[in-house]
Amino acid sequence: MIDESRVGAWALPPGVSAEVALSEVRQLRAGDRPTHGGRLFAYVYDPAVPGLDELAAAAHRESAHVNGLDPTAFPSLLAMENALVGAAGRVLGAGPGTTAPDVVGSVTSGGTESLILAVKTARDAHPEIAAPRIVVPSSAHAAFAKAAHYLRVAMDVVPVSPDTLRPDPAAVAAAIRPETVLVACSAPSYAHGVVDPVEEIAAVAADAGVRCHVDACFGGWTLPYLRRLGEPVPAFDFAVPGVTSISVDLHKYAYAPKGVSVLLHRDPARRAPQYFAYADWPGYTMINPVIASTRSGGPIAAAYATLRHLGDDGYLRLAAVTRDAVAGLADAVRGVDGLRLMAEPESTVVCFTATEGGPDLFVLVDELTARGWHTQPQLSYAGLPASVHLTVTAAVAPRVAEFGPALEDAVAVARSTGPVRLPAELASLVGALTPEALTPELVMGLAAGLGLGDGSGTGPLPERMALVNTLLDAAPPSLRERLLVEFVGLLQRPAWGSDG
Ligand SMILES: Cc1ncc(COP(=O)(O)O)c(C=O)c1O
Repeated sequence: MIDESRVGAWALPPGVSAEVALSEVRQLRAGDRPTHGGRLFAYVYDPAVPGLDELAAAAHRESAHVNGLDPTAFPSLLAMENALVGAAGRVLGAGPGTTAPDVVGSVTSGGTESLILAVKTARDAHPEIAAPRIVVPSSAHAAFAKAAHYLRVAMDVVPVSPDTLRPDPAAVAAAIRPETVLVACSAPSYAHGVVDPVEEIAAVAADAGVRCHVDACFGGWTLPYLRRLGEPVPAFDFAVPGVTSISVDLHKYAYAPKGVSVLLHRDPARRAPQYFAYADWPGYTMINPVIASTRSGGPIAAAYATLRHLGDDGYLRLAAVTRDAVAGLADAVRGVDGLRLMAEPESTVVCFTATEGGPDLFVLVDELTARGWHTQPQLSYAGLPASVHLTVTAAVAPRVAEFGPALEDAVAVARSTGPVRLPAELASLVGALTPEALTPELVMGLAAGLGLGDGSGTGPLPERMALVNTLLDAAPPSLRERLLVEFVGLLQRPAWGSDG
């Protein structure tokens, strides 16, 4: 007998049918950016291969309840993880018959986890260093900063040249100190899609006796195929002697559903400090190579099925399609007066900025959104101008011919509209504000002034983000961080349900 008087205010709503529950998910999903169809140039990786989603979903379902906590209880997962690590090694210049036959690795939940673990492993390989440090180019992914922050490792940032968007290896060498445990570089960088001089950087790291991690999370699965297609891809993988670890995300250009990356080390000894083991409690002895303990087998099985299905021929074909789409988009950018490419594309990113007198990029991004093209604005940073980032996947190829005219039209409108002007009070506020001076009242006022709902976080997001981006662009990085934490915090509030 249920005592209704004890249910109280915390009762959940009664259960609904499976159809209703699923239709709620579908209704919520309808408000999202389109994950398929080649019109979203960030966040998603769509190969547009018929049947692939269904295959991955079926494989995910098979293993969703399998727990990666204990590889001996679920040998299926161990076998699939070993297959994924082996495949990643093969793509990245390791394995039998190569100069890196002893490479080992782990499957993680994503690029960020792979990078955190690369930093942790390097740090823990040197327990004698009390205040460890890492050296990263300024173009390295923000996940290195997250790793440094979580792990209390100091970060020495080497600026990239505004012309090449790459760090100078001599400056990397100069940044290495006795406490440096890791030097990192990207192949390619996310923001601009350029490949760092890995050979030179790995050499200076090796000379100093320091590990060198290549962050190939974004492009590690395409660069080798682009090279096979004849593109001039520089050496960046285990064929480079000083490279000690590499990360590659399967949920990016291996086209697996989200939740899978691989972290590789040149040999088992280098991987050893990655493990966490704990027997000093009354429960099971915990031995984890990665951050999570309980891990769903779903993403791993989905990635396994995706890789098996696409295979070498599939990835080669998709890389060719993507390369052609990149070339087409880059041509479209070159053809529009007022825009210039930040770098000649050398991977699967097209990144452009405005020339002197060109359109306001934040207005342009909104104009493209209004036309159904979802691009990613990048704020100006340390002498680099604001830019627009396009992650290009195979699904974009059939759309390329439509993009050029849309871009031209959007640029024409953005030019005639001109940049958004920050209201005077917002402009003076952001000029004078320091992160420490932000109060909840100021945040609410700013959010309301920017059209972020009524400032309480409960209203709809504005369709046009140029005002928000212009404000953020005017702020230094530390204030950008604080403002976005506050704004996102306003959005992330519990949905209590109708009685709440
Ligand atoms: C070069 C690079 N490294 C790391 C990451 C982080 O990956 P994730 O978002 O899977 O954590 C990304 C994501 O875009 C990336 O492009």
